Amino acid sequence: MLSLSAGHLETARRTLDPAVWDYYQAGSGEETTLREAEAAWRAYRLRPRVLRDVSSVDLTTQLLGTTVESPFVVAPMAFHALAHPDGECATVAGTGKAGCLSVVSTRASRTLEDIGVAATGPWWFQAYVMRDRGLTEALVQRAAAAGARAVVLTVDTPYVGRKHKVSGVRIAVPDDQFLVNLAQHLLPGAIGREAAEQDPSMTPDVIRRLAEVGGLPVLVKGVLRGDEAERCLEAGAAGVIVSNHGGRQLDRAVPSALALPEVLEAVDGRAPVLVDGGVRTGVDALVALTLGAAAVLVGRPVLWALASEGADGVTAALEALGADLRHVMAVAGAAGIGDLDPSMVTGALRPP
Ligand code: FNR
Repeated sequence: MLSLSAGHLETARRTLDPAVWDYYQAGSGEETTLREAEAAWRAYRLRPRVLRDVSSVDLTTQLLGTTVESPFVVAPMAFHALAHPDGECATVAGTGKAGCLSVVSTRASRTLEDIGVAATGPWWFQAYVMRDRGLTEALVQRAAAAGARAVVLTVDTPYVGRKHKVSGVRIAVPDDQFLVNLAQHLLPGAIGREAAEQDPSMTPDVIRRLAEVGGLPVLVKGVLRGDEAERCLEAGAAGVIVSNHGGRQLDRAVPSALALPEVLEAVDGRAPVLVDGGVRTGVDALVALTLGAAAVLVGRPVLWALASEGADGVTAALEALGADLRHVMAVAGAAGIGDLDPSMVTGALRPP
């Protein structure tokens, strides 16, 4: 792991409430999927090019029409105020300064309107479809009005995965930070009840519906199979995010590093395919991008950075990842994201 991330991780471990630390780190079940995520990236091998002019490396790329200076994207994660008093406002401020895009969770601890004002760069809104569909639609409309440029619909969570590490532990999210974006649409006391739970009956028609309601492209997050990616595209998805939710949903789900090629093959260039789970270094990102991912999302390391140094920590962490990627791209013979292609990577070894 990069030394900066390791430093942030140690600071976060020392300073966070132990219950919050466990909540951030936890995976579901026996944490098999969580454990395998990083190793699965390491199982690929690169085939570098030589004698290319790599005296300057440019990480600029396009994501659904938005230009970003770096292909690292902040993954949607709940309750950033547990890591820092400014919560998601600090995260989006720090992310934009690093030239990156962030995805803001339905479970953010700051309002979408405040986050929109604090953002220094582009952001997308992550939607959970709740049993009260009107609630989800209202959030998507508010996110669009606050400046979100796309909706990320998370589909791997019909029910929240069981995390034994934190089962029965109450994380003290102060009332003014708990699902603040839902609060204003619900009667007092209704939060946590049925209306705000994920709707386990959700089907692909919701993709087009949310696109219409928000007037924004919808990417589907939590896809691990080619045929499912195909279903999402048929139902109107503008992009797909290969993810097993950081090992927090179905334990023993396939590592996203291994699922990515199958999804890319099925999508066949029709829409951007992003990926997350265990991306910790420039070379992890390089593998994903050479396989054909449009960008990589990073989860927990952003929370460690936020807990350690607030917005500046988030900027520093994303810049360090960018610098690492720039370095390994140069050594692999690529001067820009457009120079990366699957001939530069060879098949996964069996993960340990
Ligand atoms: C998440 N993740 C997540 N995903 C999502 O779509 N909505 C959410 O609210 C959350 N919340 C959340 C909380 C915490 C504490 C974590 C660690 C993760 C999953 C997240 O978007 C992403 O898929 C993984 O975190 C990526 O894996 P890494 O980078 O953490 O290994």
